[in-house]
Order: sequence, then C-alpha cells, then structure tokens
Amino acid sequence: MNILQELQARFRAALVGLSDASDADLDLIRPAQDPKFGDYQANLAMPLGKRLGRPPRDVAAEILGRLDAADLCHPPEVAGPGFINLRLKDDYFIPHLQAAVGDQRLGVAPVEKPRTFVIDYSAPNVAKPMHVGHIRSTVIGDALCRTLRFLGHRVISDNHIGDWGTQFGMILYGYKHFLDAAAYKNNPVAELARLYRLVSLVMEYYGILDNLPVLEKEIQKQQKILEKLKLEDQNNKKIIEKIKEQDDKVKELRSTWVFDNATRIWLENGSTTPDISKLIPEHKEIRSDVLAETAKLHAGDPENRKLWQEFLPACEDEINRIYGRLGIRFDHTLGESFYEDRLAGVVEELVNKGIARESDGALCIFFPGEKVPMLIRKQDGAFLYATTDLATIRYRMEQFHPDAILYVVDHRQSMHFKHLFEAARLWGYGDVELQHVSFGTVLGEDNRPFKTRSGDTVGLESLLDEAVLRAGEIVSANDDAKPDGPELPPERRREIAEIVGIGALKYADLSQNRTSDYVFSYDKMLAMNGNTATYMQYAYARVRSIFAKGNVDAAELRRSGAEIVLPTPAERALALEILRFPEALDRAAADYRPHQLTAYLFDLANRYSTFFENCPVLRAETDALRRSRLLLCDLTARTIGKGLELLGIKVVEKM
Ligand code: ARG
Repeated sequence: MNILQELQARFRAALVGLSDASDADLDLIRPAQDPKFGDYQANLAMPLGKRLGRPPRDVAAEILGRLDAADLCHPPEVAGPGFINLRLKDDYFIPHLQAAVGDQRLGVAPVEKPRTFVIDYSAPNVAKPMHVGHIRSTVIGDALCRTLRFLGHRVISDNHIGDWGTQFGMILYGYKHFLDAAAYKNNPVAELARLYRLVSLVMEYYGILDNLPVLEKEIQKQQKILEKLKLEDQNNKKIIEKIKEQDDKVKELRSTWVFDNATRIWLENGSTTPDISKLIPEHKEIRSDVLAETAKLHAGDPENRKLWQEFLPACEDEINRIYGRLGIRFDHTLGESFYEDRLAGVVEELVNKGIARESDGALCIFFPGEKVPMLIRKQDGAFLYATTDLATIRYRMEQFHPDAILYVVDHRQSMHFKHLFEAARLWGYGDVELQHVSFGTVLGEDNRPFKTRSGDTVGLESLLDEAVLRAGEIVSANDDAKPDGPELPPERRREIAEIVGIGALKYADLSQNRTSDYVFSYDKMLAMNGNTATYMQYAYARVRSIFAKGNVDAAELRRSGAEIVLPTPAERALALEILRFPEALDRAAADYRPHQLTAYLFDLANRYSTFFENCPVLRAETDALRRSRLLLCDLTARTIGKGLELLGIKVVEKM
C-alpha cells in the first residue's frame, strides 16, 4: 500500500476541473518535514495559482472543496501562502500496518504493469584485474536488479564483459615477449595481470613521450603569461590574485600525472622484473604491435585464438571469485566476443538502409545537427566498441523483448551512449527505453581519482580485504566491550566482519546520488553513526537482541493477532515511516537511484532511535502496549533487512 499514491489519486480527481493542472503538479505532494504541518503536504496551489493568475489560497480552497479524502485524513488546512496540510487518520493507516505484519512483502504491492528490463552492468575488461572503478557499476547495477525485481518487473541481468578488445592484444604481446613460464603455470591470473601491467607501462611510456613536446610548449606559454603578469603593478589586488591563479596553473601543469609517471618510469630501476627501463628501448613499436596482435586475434589467427581461449577461463575465474564474494550473480555473461560474428551483418544492414555511410574510408553514422559521427568500421576494416553495442541491442531485442535496457556505466561514456541510442532509433528501435544510468568517479581523500600511493589504480580485491580487515577490528572491539562479556567466537567474528566490511563498501557507494563523485573513506563508511551500512546493521541487530532478551518469538507474535496502537507521537511517527517503504522503492526505481532507498532507511533508523528512547518496549506499562511496540520493532527490523537485501547487503542477528 502506497499512501502517497493514494493521496495523489485523490488529488488528481480534485484537479480535474482546473484547467492547466497536470500530473506533474502531483509531485508536489510530499511527506511533511515537520509534524507540526501534518503528515503530508500538498504544495501545488502555489505554482498552479501562478499559472492561472489567481491567489494560491483560493486555488487551494477550490481544490479542497472538491477533494474527496475524508476516509484518509482529517479535514485539511490551508497554511501560509497556500500550503495544504494533510493529517492522516490513524484508523486509515493502522490496518495497513497491521496487514504488513503478516505479509512477506511488507505491504509492498507488485507493480500493476510489469516491464521487462535488461540491465547491463559491471562489464569489466577481463584481461586486467578489476579495480575500484568497477565497484560502482557492479553495486549500483545489482541494487537496481534486486529492487526492480522485487517491485514485480522482469529483470534480465547481462554482464557485457570486455573479452575481445585491445586488452587481449596487450596480454598476447606480453605473453610473447615477457612471459615468466613458471609463474604462469603456477598462477596464470597473477602472471597475466603482471603482463598486462608491464605492457601498459611500456605503452604509457611511449604515449607520454609523444605528449611531452605538446605539454612542454603549453607550460612555456603559461609561464610567459605569468612573467608578464609579474611586471605589472604589484599593489593591485586584482593583479595579485591573477598572479596566484596563473602560478597555480603552471604548477598544476608541471605536476600532471604525465610528468609524474614519466619520471617514475625513468627512475624505476631494478624494482620490477624484468627491469622496465632496460626493456623500453627494445619495444619502440609496442603500441602498433599490440594493435596488430589484436587484429590478428580478430582475423582468426590460430595461435592468437588458441592463446585467447586459454586466457579467457582464467580471467573469468578471477572475476567470478570477486562476484562470489560480493554476492553478485548474472543471468547472462555475453561478452563482446559473443557478438563478433554478427558485426559484419549489422554494418552491412546499416549501410543498405542508408543509416551508415562512408567517410574517409571509414563507415560512420551521422546525426542531424551534429558534427561528430559514430564510427562503426575503421578504414582498416576493424569494428568498434559501438558496432558491438549495436549488435548487442539487436540481440537483446530479439531474445528478451525488453521494454527498457539500462546501461550502468560511468559518466565518461555519455557521448558513446548518446550516439548509440540515436543510432538505435534510426535503425528502428524507437519504442524501447534506452537509458544510460551514469555515475561519477570514486575520489581519494585528496579529491582526485582514487589511486594507491604509488599512483596505481586500486585493485578491487585489496579494497574488499581492507574493508573487511577494518570491519573486523570494529566487530571485535564491540564484542569485547559487551557488558556481560564477549559472545562471539572468532570464526563468527570473521563471518560478521565480511558482512559488515562488504556491506559498508556497497552502502557507501549506493548512498551517494550516483551522478556525483564521492570521496572514498574507510573510516566514514564504517562509522557506527550516520548514514552507513554499519549503523543500519546495528539497528537491525539491536532490535533482534530485544527479542532475544525478552524471549519473544517474533514469528509467533506476528501470528498472534496482537494489535498495533499508537498512543505517543514517536510511535506514530515510526509507524508512518514504516509505511513509506513503498514510496521509497518507487522513488529509487523511477530514476534508477538507489540512494533514495538508503536515505529512507536512514530516516527509518532515526525514527526508530527516537521511538526507542521514548517508549520502553519490554517494560511497557501494559502487556497490550508491549506487544504493539514489539510489533513496531519487528516491522522496523524487517523493513531494514528487506531494504538492505534490495541493496545487496546482508544483516546479522548479532554484532
Ligand atoms: N567494458 C566496458 C568498459 O570497461 C564497459 C561496457 C559497458 N557496457 C556496454 N554495453 N557498453 O569500459
């Protein structure tokens, strides 16, 4: 049962007589910020009044004259400029709460019109180890799958892994030039990862070398501007400011990663085997050679195919191990290679239909009013990332008949998806919702993309290990501090640490509005107070401990027919918050933003705290009140548990 939806339906009916009113106005019906103003507030009279050229209070009065909601709320009041304050009747909503007690779905009705979603997420390039950049796509995509599924939609998850791109050309090159055969035999994944890093370092070196003259020039140019500024009036505040800005600019340029990495590579000696600085002169053509290895693989060269077939299972084992730890599974893992033999056909069709055409020897799709086309075949005949994505759309449409395809991919690919979706429309896929569920970057505490001290990307595995390690310390310290002595054996502590550590990592990500960047911090994500998984898991475990302490069987209580009563404001506020779970899920699903759900869980946990401080549970004045409060506790815990489950986070009964 969704109270907000019910209120909106009543207002929709009341708005019918008003010209100019639309469903968008109904978005202005919201939970009230302050209980003084009731439980919900309808703020639609102000914009409506403005559009109609009438005093908002009049408009509000007219709406109320037609509003038929006497079964839901007490007579509404108009406040201030035209706010409509709505106070729900207890005997309207308590039965819904009572119904949630015995309901597995906690009163969340499945959607009336289920849709079919294909969700494309995680999708690492598997030739290299997963790193911090993959956490967001993986975790957000998984939360969306779970939430949409719970709401009653049909969801197909598909991990579109990069198993066919240049990365494989890189490890092929590495394998042929730098292989440590014994290491490969011993641990293929680790050796392939080393080869990948080595090759990318050497390639990066030559990339930097190409770039240096450009950078040098730019620095000289900016330095000249700085010198000139210094000749101007040094007492002028504006000039002083400008000098400072310019100085920062020059410093910034000088310290770009380009310089850092170049010097790092040059200075590196003996620390890596084989010695990179000695390697470098022997691999001048590495970048084109790597491309040639990739091209040979794509052209069906037997040696490269054989090696690729040998590498792939090892790479897949590696990512599957991490997915196992994260509790993530996919319905399909159809990587780029799966589409290889369909690409030529797709390109041919696009050309025949006049959607793609030749330009400088390449095949491109041009878009009305846009200069940059989308490349689908290069001059040398190679297909591109975009070509594969087009073939993938066709396959998914034919195979799954989705109403929507969601791509959970970082914001740097927004141009790619804009073009891809436009091309798909031109191609005839006009009905399906194609959505780039984009997200920002994970930053370090220095506000720059999160890197290790030596400047490398942070491996996902080490991230998990560190989070679990720190969670372990917290779990142990807490258990040791329990008034009646510790109650968790070491093995249980380890299991809990894994759940708490990984939960913290996921929640820290999901609780951010996905489109913003966020700063990664172990301390913050594991904080026991605040909007964290740890706080939520604690809230859950604390409720459970009440049942343990009072020797109450929750399942029996639910079946007992005990009644919920709400004599105090804190109880009433908690009850209403519990009933808002469906609203939060709708908000999270509407715009594919899991942080709407975490924000709700945080509110719920806070209302619960207030309730718990004000209302004795096990020692309530009467048995009826005790049972009512226990039911509220139970509903709170179940809602938190369910909410976390939909985010892919586990709870524990004891912490
Ligand atoms: N493998 C790609 C990368 O690492 C992401 C793929 C996203 N999905 C897609 N259908 N393009 O950048």
